[in-house]
Amino acid sequence: MKKTSNKIVLVGTGAVGMSFIYSAVNQGIAEEYVLIDVNTKAAEGNAIDIQDAIPMLNQTSKIKAGEYSDCQDADLVVITAGRPQRPGETRLELIADNARIMKGIAQAIKGSGFTGVTLIASNPCDVLTSVYQEVTGFDKHKVLGSGTNLDSARLKRLIASKLGLAPASVNAFIMGEHGDSSLAAYSASNVMGKSISQIKGENKISEKELEDAWYQAAHMAYEIIERKGATFYGIGVSLTQLSSAILRDEKTTYMISAKLEGEYGQSGFYTGVPAVLSSNGWERIIEWKLEESEIAKFNESCNKLQEVYIIAKE
Ligand code: NAD
Ligand code: LAC
Repeated sequence: MKKTSNKIVLVGTGAVGMSFIYSAVNQGIAEEYVLIDVNTKAAEGNAIDIQDAIPMLNQTSKIKAGEYSDCQDADLVVITAGRPQRPGETRLELIADNARIMKGIAQAIKGSGFTGVTLIASNPCDVLTSVYQEVTGFDKHKVLGSGTNLDSARLKRLIASKLGLAPASVNAFIMGEHGDSSLAAYSASNVMGKSISQIKGENKISEKELEDAWYQAAHMAYEIIERKGATFYGIGVSLTQLSSAILRDEKTTYMISAKLEGEYGQSGFYTGVPAVLSSNGWERIIEWKLEESEIAKFNESCNKLQEVYIIAKE
């Protein structure tokens, strides 16, 4: 395993960006952090706030507010800039505002001479990742979206609770859009090697409970946004997990937004699929033999994303 690599630049020091940094610093995944935001005062304030925490964490990592030129020798850039959803608004409805913001950020990062990996969480995550990769022209493998890693964690938790297990013992996956058109890939999900259909056959969980679990996982953000205005802790940890896998060259597998070029019969855009993460970004997409009904849902999700990608390009 490669030595822990060290410099992360964060673009967007709002609730999501700073939840990520707080989690990353607590877990000690990098040695240098640079914060960029249009609101430079907020970036500075956040850097000082985290600097206060470092002495108590028995760490030597450094954090400062910076500029795009700081990306030049960074290993990883994480983008969380953009407007979040208002209550009731879908992620795809953010496209007009956030595609404009993402195009500007993409130009600035490209202009810095950055050669590392970019991880994007801003919504709509899949479409903005496609936009960023197109504008920068960076190698598709070095650009990824946080995709359905968070959605899959939500599904794991819900199914584990039904089965009376710890979430870590459940392998359950959401794929497609990080959003309303996603699907649960139950044909690829299991508990300690026991397929979901076998568990269903033993009457431990019903078809309706599985459908409800997907619905709840896919709509969890609405529940949170309705109560507290935004979601940020879950994605903060998701970004830490994915960043750590990249910086440590782990070659671990996650549900992330990767660019399809023939995989799952689709091409030319990013969406949530299983993939292997390493210091080069995502190395390859893993292709599951999905059931017909899952393939139909995945294709529908892809159609939705392609429609919004066309709008984003205008
Ligand atoms: P926020 O409003 O708290 O923070 C957004 C930050 O982006 C602000 O600090 C703002 O100044 C900054 N910003 C805006 N334009 C910028 C630009 N051009 N350059 C640099 N910085 C800029 O919002 P938030 O709650 O942190 O959410 C951020 C994004 O993350 C939203 O799009 C939200 O939908 C998304 N999100 C994604 C996930 C996921 O799972 N992928 C989860 C939660 C939120
Ligand atoms: C989430 C955000 C809103 O928490 O995309 O799923």
